[in-house]
Amino acid sequence: MEIYDINCVKGFIRMCNDGWLQGWHERNGGNLTYRMTEDEVAACRPFFDETAREWVNMGVQAENLAGEYFITTGSGKYFRNVNPDPIHSIGIVEINASGDSWRTVWGLAEGAKPTSEFPSHFMNHSVRKTATSGANRVIYHCHATNVIALTYILPLTDRDFSRALWQSATECSVVFPEGVGVCPWMVPGGSDIAMATSEKMKLYQAAVWAQHGLFVSGPDYDTTFGLAHTIEKSAEIYVKVLSMGGGLIRQTIEDDNLRAIAQDFGVKLNEDFLH
Ligand code: 13P
Ligand code: ZN
Repeated sequence: MEIYDINCVKGFIRMCNDGWLQGWHERNGGNLTYRMTEDEVAACRPFFDETAREWVNMGVQAENLAGEYFITTGSGKYFRNVNPDPIHSIGIVEINASGDSWRTVWGLAEGAKPTSEFPSHFMNHSVRKTATSGANRVIYHCHATNVIALTYILPLTDRDFSRALWQSATECSVVFPEGVGVCPWMVPGGSDIAMATSEKMKLYQAAVWAQHGLFVSGPDYDTTFGLAHTIEKSAEIYVKVLSMGGGLIRQTIEDDNLRAIAQDFGVKLNEDFLH
């Protein structure tokens, strides 16, 4: 029995590899965090380091995450290496009682640190935990190629991105009926981008970072990866449509079609984004 046999760790590694195989994680691009259940922490505890490491302040704070444990990718680590070399690529961190600092309890070997986007993940976990009454556990950031490409040509508004994505693949309005948020270009890492993203995540399950990538959330690995995959697939279709037609779109999914899907599938579409 190894820590890698425990489902939350196994699933984490699998999701990193799935993202790598999609081409969303060049070099050290992207990061993943998972908020563990009490049972999962208990199952992993026998593998924790004997001596705990130093507490590190995050520059952000969230009371509802005090005492939680997260599995996280390491800063500067490659998703490509997570599967063959997890001990150097990922780790488990504990959050202190004030909800403002972390310390490594397993993994991140030889001085590695949690992702530089840990403050963004942390604030998004806090907001999504509240928004979903505790159901949300996964936050995932990837450099999804076609989503990034669209941030060069579409107006950087929640409305423009939500409509373009809903219209480019029929399942989108069912998967994210509230739409997606869009953050302007910002310096990666640290608390500014963390606060801007977490404002969006109060309303949406996903946020686009202009000229950078995608942030998504969900209750488990499958749903979260599926959300990123759905958004990126839709963006890919829209990029192809615009490229093929020189910008001409002859027909699309109209607002009344979107309303009909919402009615049949029993989801509440964000009416602010419809005509
Ligand atoms: P990390 O290697 O620190 O996770 O940073 C990668 C990234 O995508 C920053 O946005
Ligand atoms: Zn990034």
